[in-house]
Amino acid sequence: MKLLEKIDSLFPDEGDIPREFDFKPVNQTEYLVNGKLRHWDGPVQQVLSPVCVRTSSGLSQKIIGSHPLLTEKESLIVLDAASNAYGNGMGSWPAMHTEERIEHLEEFTGQMKERRSEVVNLLMWEIGKSYPDSLSEFDRTVDYINGTINALKSMDRDSSGFVIKEGIIGQIRRAPRGVVLCMGPSNYPLNETFTTVIPSLLMGNTVVLKLPRPGSLILYPLLEAFQKSFPGGVVNTIYGEGRKIISPLISSGKIDSLAYIGTSKVANALKRQHPKLNRLHCSFGLDAKNAAIILKDADLELTIKECITGALSYNGQRCTALKILFVHSKIVDSFIKQLAEAISKLEIGMPWENNVFITPMPDPQKIEYLTELVKDAQAHGAEIINDAGGTKNKTFFYPALLYPVNSKMRVYREEQFGPVIPVISFNDIEEPIKYMVESNYGLQASIFGKDTHIIANLIDSLVNQVARVNINSQCQRGPDSFPFTGRKDSAEGTLSILDALRAFSVESVVAAKETDANRAIIKEIVRENKSTFLSTDFIL
Ligand code: G3H
Repeated sequence: MKLLEKIDSLFPDEGDIPREFDFKPVNQTEYLVNGKLRHWDGPVQQVLSPVCVRTSSGLSQKIIGSHPLLTEKESLIVLDAASNAYGNGMGSWPAMHTEERIEHLEEFTGQMKERRSEVVNLLMWEIGKSYPDSLSEFDRTVDYINGTINALKSMDRDSSGFVIKEGIIGQIRRAPRGVVLCMGPSNYPLNETFTTVIPSLLMGNTVVLKLPRPGSLILYPLLEAFQKSFPGGVVNTIYGEGRKIISPLISSGKIDSLAYIGTSKVANALKRQHPKLNRLHCSFGLDAKNAAIILKDADLELTIKECITGALSYNGQRCTALKILFVHSKIVDSFIKQLAEAISKLEIGMPWENNVFITPMPDPQKIEYLTELVKDAQAHGAEIINDAGGTKNKTFFYPALLYPVNSKMRVYREEQFGPVIPVISFNDIEEPIKYMVESNYGLQASIFGKDTHIIANLIDSLVNQVARVNINSQCQRGPDSFPFTGRKDSAEGTLSILDALRAFSVESVVAAKETDANRAIIKEIVRENKSTFLSTDFIL
């Protein structure tokens, strides 16, 4: 079938949906507060899938359910639940021994694994992620939890001793920050949300969890696991419009730590609402415009492969996606030809289809935005290089390879967060470097080539522009033990399995002058297990 026809007939009839992936709408009326699944009978938000089905009146996005649209009142009740459970650091959860908190997390993980197929199906239906990528998001999250538990055990062992310096005896451990508001992104609603929720909980914080839109329903199968695994008030969930339910939380001054993954514009607006800025600790994962620099001696086969996954995995909706390609003028013609061919071989279709790579996208406005971006580039001299590039069908946008791109175009600077690949040719290596120096973003970059002299010089320039330089490899977050951060408007703070445990805790020191009396006090407290903090106990 010709490509245009394939795009045109992409969406299924209701009856074509395979039985194992069929979906019963989830009409969620509960939210978790203070250990109870409270019923909501107010307004709800209808949730539409990126997947459209054919109806007698044309294509229509499948309705997959609804979730509560809470108001300021419920949001503040949820906040009180989290604040009370924290109890100024003296609640049962923050005061609990680390080993016990780990047991609660293990209980949760066991229950979470039992709901794998429901969560995976929701990921496919709610955000249009392919079946293998949805499975991988779930499994990666379970691995992340286990990795975090192991890292915490090792951190606990390392801090179980005493240090004696300059006549002072001290014990240095980490203590929770307080109430953490966790807001995850819609492209990784499970994984990235949990990369902040899990370490927050393990360190003894209590959590208010706001899931993204789209991406709210994916947590529904796990609400019961949260409820059963944690004491009341430790994990609470809210749903609704950010302006109505998030602003009151932050402006109350009772949020101690804000974990947000989204745009820098929203992050800054949220942060400014806190009345005590020094009290608020922020962990942000934000905007990006990751560049690939493709040198004239690059292995084209490998480079094309990495650029395809780098720019187009999950339709380019990753903060770490390659978002602009600088290609040496000597190879640019052959590069764009081969890249266009590689794009034409990608399977397009529904998330459950075998080998599908490009799927429908959750936000129909995004399709309009990408179309505008492509039109603007064309108006300033770019051509769409690949067959059918930029063709849309309802919630589907076929990847557009744009060349030659220049600084007058919006796509030169704006983060497309979708399947548009801008290519610029360069002669002088200073051109891409200048681009990155002038960019507002500083997440990652990729270098493709073989000349070690040029690569080494580039590494030395780029490590001061971005937070990760990838050699002959696409940009990516993993492995999750690697530090994940960014410069400029791309991030605030660092996350990784270990760094996240640090981000959601504060070093606390108990210290005493080394006198006989103090030695005796410390020994007695430790020997008789009188304190949870001041202790030489460790977890094996
Ligand atoms: O959207 C940003 C994600 O952190 C990217 O993670 O590189 O593993 O896809 P990833």
